[in-house]
Amino acid sequence: MKIKIPGYKLAVLCAAGILAGSVNLKAQTVIPVETSNNAMVLQVAKNKDLNIIYFGKKLNNTQEYSQIPGIYKQSEDYTGLFNSAYTPAGSRNLVEPAISVTHTDGNNSLDLKYVSHDVKKISDGVSLLSIVLKDVVYNFEVTLYYKAYYKNDVVEQWSVIKHHEKGNVTLQKFASANLHIQAKDFWLTQYHGDWAKEMQPEESKLTHGIKTLDTKLGTRANLFQPSVFMISLNKPATEDEGSVLYGGLEWSGNFRTDMELDPQDNLRIISGINNYASPYELKPNVEFATPAFWYTFSTHGKGDASRKLQSWARNYKILDGKGSRVTLLNNWESTYFDFNESKLAELLKDTKKLGVDLFLLDDGWFANKYPRNSDHTGLGDWEENKQKLPNGIASLIKEAQQNEVKFGIWVEPEMVSPKSELYEKHPDWVIKQPKREEYYFRNQLVLDLSNPKVQDFVYGIIDNLFTKNPTLAYIKWDCNAVIYNAYSAHLGKNQSQFYVEYVRGLYKVLERIRAKYPTVPMMLCSGGGGRVDSAALQYFTEFWPSDNTDPLERIFMQWEYSYFYPAITSSNHVTDWGKQPIKYRTDVAMMGKLGFDIVVSKLSATDLQYCQDAIKNYNSFKQVIWQGDQYRLANPREGSVASVMYIDEAKSSGIMFNYLVNNRYDEKSRVPIPLKGLDAAKNYRIREINLYPGSKTNIDGNKTYSGDFLMKIGFNPQVHAGRTSVVLKIDEVR
Ligand code: DGJ
Repeated sequence: MKIKIPGYKLAVLCAAGILAGSVNLKAQTVIPVETSNNAMVLQVAKNKDLNIIYFGKKLNNTQEYSQIPGIYKQSEDYTGLFNSAYTPAGSRNLVEPAISVTHTDGNNSLDLKYVSHDVKKISDGVSLLSIVLKDVVYNFEVTLYYKAYYKNDVVEQWSVIKHHEKGNVTLQKFASANLHIQAKDFWLTQYHGDWAKEMQPEESKLTHGIKTLDTKLGTRANLFQPSVFMISLNKPATEDEGSVLYGGLEWSGNFRTDMELDPQDNLRIISGINNYASPYELKPNVEFATPAFWYTFSTHGKGDASRKLQSWARNYKILDGKGSRVTLLNNWESTYFDFNESKLAELLKDTKKLGVDLFLLDDGWFANKYPRNSDHTGLGDWEENKQKLPNGIASLIKEAQQNEVKFGIWVEPEMVSPKSELYEKHPDWVIKQPKREEYYFRNQLVLDLSNPKVQDFVYGIIDNLFTKNPTLAYIKWDCNAVIYNAYSAHLGKNQSQFYVEYVRGLYKVLERIRAKYPTVPMMLCSGGGGRVDSAALQYFTEFWPSDNTDPLERIFMQWEYSYFYPAITSSNHVTDWGKQPIKYRTDVAMMGKLGFDIVVSKLSATDLQYCQDAIKNYNSFKQVIWQGDQYRLANPREGSVASVMYIDEAKSSGIMFNYLVNNRYDEKSRVPIPLKGLDAAKNYRIREINLYPGSKTNIDGNKTYSGDFLMKIGFNPQVHAGRTSVVLKIDEVR
């Protein structure tokens, strides 16, 4: 029989005709987790194991899911656990487990059996399925959660682990999610990087055995590798074709995702907090909740998957995802540490002159005993530096008000300089090995956020700033160091809790900040994009993708980020990086949340004019970029032209960005680029905007084209060496 739950449909098929959540379950209960297009189908086996019997496009008739296993004639599964929904270690298992524990008596075995399940409607289109599993020998249980966002085809999965044994149980491994997928082949797209080289994609065919994506860096965890990935089924998916799964962990610390092509040729994906150096002592009757792993799946290529994910992020994940954002002028690259009140007064005037909303004061404004005049000193001493700012931040904010601009400030609250008063006063708040030499990343150390006193201190930095300066309008939260010599004086003998408790401590601080300051925009920065993930974006309105703002590099980087995060979260600043003219730099930065970090007073009159006009243009269509659907039209990795467009929900107003990404002789847009996402029946006009002062366009903005034409034939933006960046405004003609 079948129950329909509004929005997300969860059908429960039960041989005995018994409903979900009830107890008297007989063999072969089937529990499909369905969204508008897809299904992940769980089945309770006769022996009460909970298995995954299907992952893919959903069937019209949910009754038919139970027939799927019989169709497969693969090799023997000697364990009965290869397709476990949460593979327990130490009993019959022979493959990578999702959970592995040591019980109070030293025994390492676990065998989890289905007990019950339940479905709750969370809101329209969002439901939560929970399934209780218990060990038959030990008083140990795991509840699996599947939160389904029906419309966006996104599912979040996590587990809650609990026991009632007579002492602590050690969690050796404690994954959030365990998927099992059947397909002919699996193609993994993963990302690697370093400072200024974030989000470099690599695609490869998965072979038998285990491929692990992980980090052990503690903070700035994504520096070498983020947790986000794609898996194409059968063959590599393209922008508009193919079956592709996207996944990522909502955790701003050490993660680990194992992708195991098992002996039956099926793919097992197990993702969660990295258990590296982290066997976790769990007390009786205490719940250990793992972070959520999200996934989405599309049979219509990477573009469709990313639009669903972007929409999900805006609607459910990112702080103020449907709200607005400020444009800004940042002073980092124009002054570095070298500024004072009069220099800043000039920059505040420039902010107004440029036409952006806010001035963002970066690193270097604080510390007195060890002034922050370089990156060697002062982190932790968050009082205004009296030499640079004798009248404090308050006077800068006043000055900003006089210039009719808002004021924001940079902080790096989790960090401490070895040369700081904070370090002198509280050496026990610093993460370091007591008996080993200190080792620095960017000449600094990390504070021990597992310690509640440190949490209070970090919260206090932000709270003090706002209490003293209630009109402070923006925070850039930086995090430049990774964790070396992981040791917490606070945790004493429980060092293996450290990596987990650090991140929990960070989230506690962010919770408190958001409870008191719910909407103030905060940028998540980590010496670039070393930290962005869907958990952190619940507290931050935007992130800094990379210190590398060379626009040519950014075209590639923003392209990759955009698969996972919507444009409204991508802080793109125009700087002096790269060799491109100001127009190119500004146009690229517009494909997200626009900002500047240049010396405005050094701009030529026409460059300044260009920027001012471009900002006005941006203000007129930024909603389309922030809230519209993004379509990737021409891949910079596949040709000499990159092209990306955004279109509003009504399909009446859009914007198309086009760039030359190859400066070899006579490279240009030779053929029209087909547009996407328009209404075939509507007519549109295409007009070039963001023209550099004095330049003309050959594009006739009065011509009308049908959506049908533009999507089948396309439009040539006429990109060439003399026009390396072309921005086109698309408007419906009524
Ligand atoms: C690293 C950030 O990515 C930069 O934008 C800047 O804020 C510096 N830190 C300041 O130290």
